[in-house]
Amino acid sequence: MLPASVTVDPAFVVGPVRRRTFGSFVEHLGRCVYTGIHDPGHPTADADGFRGDVLELTRELGVSTVRYPGGNFVSGYRWEDAIGPVEQRPRRLDLAWHSTEPNLVGVDEFMRWAAKAAVEPMMAVNLGTRGVQEALDLLEYCNVPGGTEWSDRRRANGAEDPYRVRMWCLGNEMDGPWQIGHKTAEEYGRLAAETARAMRMVDPDLELVACGSSNSGMPTFGEWERVVLTETYEHVDHISAHAYYWEQDGDLASFLASAVDMDYFIESVAATADAVRAAGKHAKRIHISFDEWNVWYQKRAESRPPSGDDWPVAPVLLEDRYNVADAVVVGNLLISLLRHTDRVHAASLAQLVNVIAPIMTEPGGRIWKQTIFHPFALTSNHAKGEVLRLAVDSPLVETARFGEVQALDAVATHDPESGDLVVLATNRSVTDDVALDVDLRGFPGLRLVEALTLANPDHTWTATADDDASVAPRANTTAKVADDRAHVELPPVSWSILRLARS
Ligand code: AHR
Repeated sequence: MLPASVTVDPAFVVGPVRRRTFGSFVEHLGRCVYTGIHDPGHPTADADGFRGDVLELTRELGVSTVRYPGGNFVSGYRWEDAIGPVEQRPRRLDLAWHSTEPNLVGVDEFMRWAAKAAVEPMMAVNLGTRGVQEALDLLEYCNVPGGTEWSDRRRANGAEDPYRVRMWCLGNEMDGPWQIGHKTAEEYGRLAAETARAMRMVDPDLELVACGSSNSGMPTFGEWERVVLTETYEHVDHISAHAYYWEQDGDLASFLASAVDMDYFIESVAATADAVRAAGKHAKRIHISFDEWNVWYQKRAESRPPSGDDWPVAPVLLEDRYNVADAVVVGNLLISLLRHTDRVHAASLAQLVNVIAPIMTEPGGRIWKQTIFHPFALTSNHAKGEVLRLAVDSPLVETARFGEVQALDAVATHDPESGDLVVLATNRSVTDDVALDVDLRGFPGLRLVEALTLANPDHTWTATADDDASVAPRANTTAKVADDRAHVELPPVSWSILRLARS
């Protein structure tokens, strides 16, 4: 048993818990849209063809914003293809995923789905094959009340009121050579700045996201952000970050420490943005939209798109099955995002359904929760108020990729109104329990409401449609609170949530 301790103090406020930290992502990719959110033949489907069971689990997951329609897909997308009568919409090649896009779901359908799911839509514009004008047309379609070509087309298509979408991504992963219309930082920075400037002429209140790096290992990481922000600084609010992690070559210890890379990524982008701020004598600060993050086994066969003459509609693609260790990492990545709430103002778990997703469906059939569903739902539903920085004293564990890292990683949230305190903790040790002592002297008289831990002697246990419940967060009976101290034992490879309230 490794001893660890944390001290929680209400004065150590990092910033507010932002609802947008709990966003997700729906891309026209594989079965995310078709047979995912949209499956007209399903017994729970509504008049729009949306699966009621997916809507229900989306709400249970506690998703706040949903980014749409891509992803790599957006860089070849013609949004006008997917408006108006469905039977007149063209089928198109989707070059990003070597698939056929039937355009049965477009912006109007997505907005109706978002309203039913009670999520905020976050749109991306195509800056791969398209540019300023097409972005302006889409913005006019979405946000202008009426009296113009595109706004009246929206009204004619059944949406009298504008959608008033606030957050817009200026393209997707434009630093990546795989991206349709991939650009250098200078090329992209100029295009993003001009697109943002024009979009703000239509609607000055938009929140705009410039593309940052596709991951912290990109050869252009750092320099890309510097150049893009130098061009766009006054025109955008956020720079994006994307990161996917997976257990490489059986190195579980490094995989469990993935949040070390996320911490590094966030802190490096924030530092770069602040350097551009200083050099350009700018007053405002740029924030981070971590709008793609998850565990993704990118090297596995199912992540490879079809090829040759095979251009299927909604193929099985990127349908990773997550185990307990994957869920522990997802819980830890959420801890990292919350810890940086002063700079990370939005984030999207990529993706929502079927494609590297917490929710899985059978076409026309069953639905089930992946292991990663649980830490996301519990964090989203219980982290409220303010994020608190903790003083952590943890034993170290050795990892091949990150050197020595803390076995215990934790963050806390405190709701000053209700007095509720939530401690989120990960034990990243592969072998040892951690005996965690929480000093609550700043919160006299708290009582334990609930302590849940996600762990399993076999951390490779994976949920299926037949059994998605036999391994889920369970009551941790070792948790005790007495004399303004909490004590709990955290098994190896585990994620836990402690909920405390005023007596
Ligand atoms: O989320 C899957 C893909 O990952 C997205 O389409 C792309 O933006 C990223 O590379």
